[in-house]
Amino acid sequence: MEVVIMAGPAEVGDFAAGRIAELVSTRPEAVLGVATGSSPLETYRSLAARRDAGLDLSRVSAFALDEYVGIRHDHPESYHAVIDREVVQPLGLDPARVHVPDGLADDLDAACEDYEAQIAAAGGVDLQLLGIGENGHIGFNEPTSSLSSRTRVKTLAPSTREANARFFDSAEEVPLHCLTQGLGTILDARRALLVAQGASKARAIAEIVEGPVSSRWPGSVLQLHRRATVVVDEAAASRLQLAEYYRYTVEHRRIVQPGA
Ligand code: F6R
Repeated sequence: MEVVIMAGPAEVGDFAAGRIAELVSTRPEAVLGVATGSSPLETYRSLAARRDAGLDLSRVSAFALDEYVGIRHDHPESYHAVIDREVVQPLGLDPARVHVPDGLADDLDAACEDYEAQIAAAGGVDLQLLGIGENGHIGFNEPTSSLSSRTRVKTLAPSTREANARFFDSAEEVPLHCLTQGLGTILDARRALLVAQGASKARAIAEIVEGPVSSRWPGSVLQLHRRATVVVDEAAASRLQLAEYYRYTVEHRRIVQPGA
């Protein structure tokens, strides 16, 4: 796992956007996995600035990680609406290439299977952008999620509903259930890029980076990924025991030349 410690939230976003821009420059039809919530907003802001400077994201496809169950797509806090507002519009994505799980489907299990099939039909996700919950969830894979889970219906933890109450009028208004890509689905992405900012994420970051791989801290499953990068600001890095080592490895990163 690559761990990158940046000064603050803006630098975290800029670093992550740089990785995405690099990918899209070499592969304009890249498939991105996109997250909602506050964590990726700086990344989207930096990508929007790069778009203004000429980066073309119009051929990129995107798959959202999750969606609430039972919330209308035109509700401002549905992830359909959030992805449209924070990602599709500012980055100039083609809405026809952007997918969000259908939390309004009559048959939710079938909708989950269909979502997995859509990801597979697109050739899989090239780069999955992730945030992390204070309880260690990625996507909405709450603690004790199966490490090989696929897209499915989950019950949101009370602490997640509390945390997301800021987007609604009250915690009770936050839907109880969601559809989320599973941990196994996320592991299938060719690259994983997790961003975290602020002291409230420091415990989760320490657990998933330096603790054991365990469904107790679902993000720890990224230790099993071949190309996972965790980008954190100083506050989110504050409980990492090996912080100096991560800085050292970034400073001495070797650029391997083919044939060298
Ligand atoms: C959202 C998602 C969640 C969030 C996490 C952190 O699509 O998958 O895992 O990334 O709840 O949320 P914020 O960034 O709002 O702290």
